[in-house]
Amino acid sequence: MTDSPAWTALKAAAESGGRIRDLFDAEPDRLEGLTFEAVGLTVDLSKQPWSREGATLAVALAQEAGVEAARDRLFAGEIVNLTEGRPALHMALRAPAGADFRAAGKPVSEEVEEVRDAMQDFVAAVRSGMAGGATGKPFKAVLHIGIGGSDLGPRLVWEALRPLVPDIQLRFAANIDGAEFAAATAGLDPEETLVVVVSKTFTTQETLANARAAKAWLEAKLGAGKADSHLAAVSANPAEAGRFGIAEDRVFAFRDWVGGRYSVWSAVGLSCAIGLGWPAFEGLLAGAAAMDEHFREAPLDANAPVMLALAHVFNRNGLDRPLRAVVPYARRLSLFPAYLQQLEMESNGKRVTQRGLPVAQATAASVFGDAGTNGQHAFFQLLHQGTDIIPVDFIALAEDHEGPPAHRNMLLANAIAQAEALMIGQPNPAEPHRHFPGDRPSSFILLERLTPQTLGALIALYEHKTFVEGVLWDIDSFDQWGVELGKVLAGRILRELDGGDGEGHDPSTAALIARLAR
Ligand code: F6P
Repeated sequence: MTDSPAWTALKAAAESGGRIRDLFDAEPDRLEGLTFEAVGLTVDLSKQPWSREGATLAVALAQEAGVEAARDRLFAGEIVNLTEGRPALHMALRAPAGADFRAAGKPVSEEVEEVRDAMQDFVAAVRSGMAGGATGKPFKAVLHIGIGGSDLGPRLVWEALRPLVPDIQLRFAANIDGAEFAAATAGLDPEETLVVVVSKTFTTQETLANARAAKAWLEAKLGAGKADSHLAAVSANPAEAGRFGIAEDRVFAFRDWVGGRYSVWSAVGLSCAIGLGWPAFEGLLAGAAAMDEHFREAPLDANAPVMLALAHVFNRNGLDRPLRAVVPYARRLSLFPAYLQQLEMESNGKRVTQRGLPVAQATAASVFGDAGTNGQHAFFQLLHQGTDIIPVDFIALAEDHEGPPAHRNMLLANAIAQAEALMIGQPNPAEPHRHFPGDRPSSFILLERLTPQTLGALIALYEHKTFVEGVLWDIDSFDQWGVELGKVLAGRILRELDGGDGEGHDPSTAALIARLAR
């Protein structure tokens, strides 16, 4: 398939671009023109490898790909997830009261607000001690059970915003590895623990196994059949949660038009709301809603999610760069790279278009990262001198640093220095091992402070940038069929490990099963 004129122009601009540092001299308005403000976030894309002209061509590509119309269809609740026949309407979950979102024509905002009200009541009851455990003790811990989108968002939000010494602590159990459950329950008193089981489908093997283990753990202390007041569930399949044995008034529902990796705004955020308090959860929603407004209203060339997507596409497709690092210089955001791995790689790790044809362009970059400065002492060597050029997203906070005051400037100096060093490099022909080639691109995203609002805005920024990329690549960003085959095979192999008959595996797989069956 040949590229459209806009793709051809973008690739030509990428191939003929000069060194990034030189572009600052050639383009006096570069910093201003490639820096975007939205909802308390500053997104500096001036250290990306595009010239101003290259960025303009990228915007033309977005226009040609129909990003504006696709965005309108998304917000209108049209069926944008074609393979599953669903809208993707996570924006409805964070809209202020009185909104009028429709999913495939059906009004949903009233129902969203009803669930939100029920959550708020439950949060107040748990936090005040009104809703306590079977022995009358108030809850001091919430054990959140869920995996993937039913885990990563709440875990990120909790780590980002948690009080240093919380009144109610949150523990998370995602992995099927028994060590995870053991660690999540270690030191907790079942009498003072609320278990929240979170699963969109309520069929996920890991989550159900951990939920069964949690019920047994509760009943071992409280007595058989005495765990009901310690259990709540969040699901788009409330009937199945009921069958699991969770009381109807403890099941908080959401709809199938909420993708798992886009679900932290729904009742999936319940544990966080309990741990952080309702105003914080509301703030998170408000920040994301403000980013929705920005994404919806701002012209493409002033639109932070659109321009971030285009910078990434410029690297991915214009310069054939299959990796990207994300480095938050904020300990509280250290889970953000893991969160983005699911958001971006599960959304856009696709090889066929919306119509099932092979994609014309390479799709999602692989994302990795860790908090700065830790990453500097691990993978930054490769970022500076490796044979691959890996663009970096730096994320930093301007204000409200915790701990020893002198650490603020040291942390920020490192963030700024790394971005500068990657770009300017340092020639050293005499000592090749000390030579820094430079011209390595980065984005710099600055949050004024880390608040529920700015965190909500940051997550929504990446959600929308992921959507825009999906439109440019003409893929379904809201399905995840690629996770299915492994699940099916795991089910079969589990039966074999438990002593069932084998089913004609390759020699390597058969040997592993034979070695580990018991
Ligand atoms: O296996 C992938 C996945 O389907 C994710 O998309 C999802 O977030 C996760 O599993 C958990 O699914 P559920 O919320 O239905 O338990």
